[in-house]
Amino acid sequence: MNGELRDAAREYLIRYGGDRFEQLFTRAIGSRVFDDTGREILDFTSGQMCATLGHNHPAIVRAIQAAGEQALHLFSGMVPEVVAQLARTLAEDWLPAPLRKSLLVNTGSESNEAALRLAKLYTGGYEVLAIGGSWHGVTGGAASVSFASDRRGYGPPVPGVHVIPEPNVYRPPIPAPTGAQAAMACLEMGLRQFDMQTRGAPAAIIVEPVISAGGVIVPPRCFMQGLREAADERGMLLIFDEAQTAFGRIGETFGAIYHGVVPDIMTLSKTLGGGVPLAATVTSERIEERAHAAGFSFYTSHVSDPLPARVGLAVLHTIRSEQLIERARCQGAYLREQLLELQRRHEAIGDVRGAGLLLGVELVKDRHTRTPDHELGALTTARCFELGLSMNIRRRPERGAVWRIAPPLTVSTEEIDRAVAMLDQALTESVQALAQRAR
Ligand SMILES: Cc1ncc(COP(=O)(O)O)c(C=O)c1O
Repeated sequence: MNGELRDAAREYLIRYGGDRFEQLFTRAIGSRVFDDTGREILDFTSGQMCATLGHNHPAIVRAIQAAGEQALHLFSGMVPEVVAQLARTLAEDWLPAPLRKSLLVNTGSESNEAALRLAKLYTGGYEVLAIGGSWHGVTGGAASVSFASDRRGYGPPVPGVHVIPEPNVYRPPIPAPTGAQAAMACLEMGLRQFDMQTRGAPAAIIVEPVISAGGVIVPPRCFMQGLREAADERGMLLIFDEAQTAFGRIGETFGAIYHGVVPDIMTLSKTLGGGVPLAATVTSERIEERAHAAGFSFYTSHVSDPLPARVGLAVLHTIRSEQLIERARCQGAYLREQLLELQRRHEAIGDVRGAGLLLGVELVKDRHTRTPDHELGALTTARCFELGLSMNIRRRPERGAVWRIAPPLTVSTEEIDRAVAMLDQALTESVQALAQRAR
């Protein structure tokens, strides 16, 4: 049976990129997933960075059951009660002022499309500044402002997009004495280029509070504050894409709080639905009012759907009741300490970075030159999977070989210890294998 279904997957599915495993998967619970041979694997990517409560948390399962008894889907103009509840909960219990108004959609890409459309309508402009190495999604507008995804072969992107080099303080595009100075040099360079090239129609600056797919790059606070000033000076709206950073993953409610900078628009996705497709674009009353007056529309089949909204409410409630933000902070500190301990023993670990439970470990050929070791990255990731640990390797040639480690916020200390032991073993064996190969 396993073989037959694996054949069916090969025969009938379009291959959609990324790393795909040979086996199929059957079940997921907490920090564990199970493949079609019954093998248990520790999931240190929380699915696709969504399952912050762990897989199949009972609160989510109950919410889905309740939706089945009430309403799964409605005409998009019929706002379900649970959607009003979720928008109120976000505004009153979570969002930093003046963000208060939500549009509830399904995916991160969609939430960013909506954010860009809002900014364009509000400002009357169309030019967007984005950050090198970022990932905002695969749909037209979102893909146009993404640089960690594949851009080649799909025709012209949306016009008017400009890039600020990523503020990577470990491997700075523009070297400087300190990380903060290197980041600010990137900002200055990007703004100078933009000011030279602008057609006089600026609309938005879009940024991830932690540039995750680009190699788990945490921009220094001064860089994010600089973006706020740059947006204000140019009459642009500042958009924070908080797909991965919202609701506890980085040990704070939002990246906006972490950096002490409030954007004009925030997009929320992966961590809002806890594994169910739910996303939101949120903004202030003032911006919503003006966009509405200008005819803003983002009318989709699943806008304001009741099933994901009910799940979103359960996710938010559980994050508070299980104190998962505090947990991300303390388990994140513990995991980071274990990774730093690995770094002390493994010359190949050049850098350990990140925030809360969103951590990056960069592998290098030599700590002095910081040359990325892509081969070692691929080998260790594959070996970890054989040993029973799933985590992600970011390996774009221009951006280093970075393990991205982001277990559910519910991860136990024992699970962290087990994962670190597998990383240790995989790294030791892979370094030996590469040395033997070189002989
Ligand atoms: C920061 C960020 N924004 C947006 C997206 C796109 O979200 P989705 O895949 O749900 O469209 C992703 C997906 O990885 C992401 O990491």
